[in-house]
Amino acid sequence: MEPGLSHFAQGLRTETAFDVLALAKRLIARGKQVFELQIGDSPFDTPSNAKAAGIAAIKAGDTHYGPSAGVSTFRATIAQTLGAELGISIDAEEVLVANGAKIFETFFCEAFLNPGDGVLVFSPHFPTYPPNIARRGARMVVAPLRAERQFRPDPEDVRRFLANDPSPKAIFLNSPHNPTGGVATSGDIQAIGQMIEEKDIALFSDEPYYQMVWEGAHVSPLQFPKLREQTVACYTFSKSYSMSGWRLGFSIAPRKITQAMAKMANTTTSCAPPFIQAAGDAALRLDQGERDRQMAAFGGKVRLLIQNLQGIPGVEAVVPHGTFYAFPDVRALCTRLGIKSHGLALYLLEAADDSIGLACLGGECFGEAGQGFLRFSCAGSDEVLVNAMSFFREAITRTERIDAFLQERPHFRIGATN
Ligand SMILES: Cc1ncc(COP(=O)(O)O)c(C=O)c1O
Repeated sequence: MEPGLSHFAQGLRTETAFDVLALAKRLIARGKQVFELQIGDSPFDTPSNAKAAGIAAIKAGDTHYGPSAGVSTFRATIAQTLGAELGISIDAEEVLVANGAKIFETFFCEAFLNPGDGVLVFSPHFPTYPPNIARRGARMVVAPLRAERQFRPDPEDVRRFLANDPSPKAIFLNSPHNPTGGVATSGDIQAIGQMIEEKDIALFSDEPYYQMVWEGAHVSPLQFPKLREQTVACYTFSKSYSMSGWRLGFSIAPRKITQAMAKMANTTTSCAPPFIQAAGDAALRLDQGERDRQMAAFGGKVRLLIQNLQGIPGVEAVVPHGTFYAFPDVRALCTRLGIKSHGLALYLLEAADDSIGLACLGGECFGEAGQGFLRFSCAGSDEVLVNAMSFFREAITRTERIDAFLQERPHFRIGATN
């Protein structure tokens, strides 16, 4: 007899970007030309010194277990590099290395949450926050991010959470923000910090896009000494160093918290592969020039995509303050076509044309608050971005195809329940 799955496994909702990625790859294998703007992956190659160091480390036999908290020289390089970038002093003992950034959501929740605890999440939100909170039996409390505030977290939501929640314990912050591109200001973070200082509240500061700010500046809670005592900030090599497939990231937190989270690493992944840490070390020391050129190119791609979205009837697009995502408001278009935003995304991929498709995500893949928006990842050549947007412009005029799609998938009609 097949054993029954846990309630958690049965209810688990995964990151839709990976599901759409798999669908796009299936369509490509069948011969469809797909503009792939669905997943937040870099279109650039891993920088050259990182690649060479990884290969050299494998050849040198650096292919065994390593310390759970990370290789000590790599932790020191991280402390030195990030400390210089943020203008603060970081000790190597405050660094924990692991396999990408996502795993730190799990470690953070395991380190701080007990069943029933309240966790404030600004929404739209990264889709793996809820399952990681649920793993600990804690409760996610949602606060909407508003376009009128450029999708910046509102300290007033924190005040309400602290005042009303029966057991407030943690806050998830993500700036620059996926999917909206919002960037929290120093004033936002300071105001939030003043509310939670001296309280038993842990702050998870998810900062994978800190080198992609197009307007204003990146501010980390680590830059506020008191707030730093209750913050776990996490970073990844996936975005700025185009190393998503290497699976490498790190967190900065006070020593005791880092030691507690290193136990989570010890009891799950054991360690990040040492030869991959060697590649990361080289990236930080030697590839910053290549990284900066790639970041500047990303900024150009974001502006290009937005320019090509502007003027499409029913679409409102503004340049995001950070990240490589465009998050246009398509509420007017969806209302006109009678289709939900993720329905529109799947229509563009599967049904708008027999030989061409555009892969992107509906905002609701990031929580209900994202309904009525699309997320495009600017992860393609400039030519792909321009062609993808002209395909989009054309595809939304093919009303017969839209009607046929909605006949077949009525749950994507506006007003239909899922
Ligand atoms: C906000 C946010 N957090 C975490 C991650 C996960 O990063 P990684 O792939 O390095 O684990 C991503 C990746 O898209 C992200 O956008």
